[in-house]
Amino acid sequence: MSKKTIGIIVGSLRKESFNKAIANYVASITPSDYEVKFIDIGGLEIFNQDLEGNPPASWTKLREDVKSADGFLFFTPEYNRSIPAVLKNALDVASRPYGENSWAGKPAGIVSVSLGSIAGFGANHHLRQIFTFLDIHPLQQPEAYIGDVTSLLDGNGNLVNEGTQSFLKTYLDAFINWVEKF
Ligand SMILES: Cc1cc2nc3c(=O)[nH]c(=O)nc-3n(C[C@H](O)[C@H](O)[C@H](O)COP(=O)(O)O)c2cc1C
Repeated sequence: MSKKTIGIIVGSLRKESFNKAIANYVASITPSDYEVKFIDIGGLEIFNQDLEGNPPASWTKLREDVKSADGFLFFTPEYNRSIPAVLKNALDVASRPYGENSWAGKPAGIVSVSLGSIAGFGANHHLRQIFTFLDIHPLQQPEAYIGDVTSLLDGNGNLVNEGTQSFLKTYLDAFINWVEKF
């Protein structure tokens, strides 16, 4: 049987992104009977419905990547108490053309990562709201809010806090169980 694919989507384009650091850690502990694929959203053309007749290659690629994944792990920063525009753009692009929502019916996990102690709660929950309409099924428990992230990483962006390592393992196990239900 072919391996299931877990698509990882990071809502920060920053080279030294803390979200990317946490996503890399989760990818590194994902069991080898799953394929992990980082889905690039940084090069995506901004959504414009006028382009739908002849969609940019970047849109077609994202839609294919989304369709071929069995589930998604989203790692998102909080920008002004919501999700970053680059992530909203990706959600919009793969939700169209009308009637061809590539996300529909798929399971997902949300991990919000922030410098602050509120831990991206606003972004985490705005993403859940969008999932409702896109028919993406979020893992409900446990929830994953990674706050004060700089205190958890070493100088090279490696996650070294053992409590967070252990929590992310628990989270990943729950997410994999969730994917297996679909
Ligand atoms: C435009 C902008 C808005 C931000 N708004 C918030 C916010 O609402 N809440 C928060 O906790 N951090 C906020 N931050 C700080 C981010 O948490 C911080 O930049 C974090 O490092 C972003 O994640 P990254 O390291 O993965 O890029 C904001 C940063 C930017 C650039």
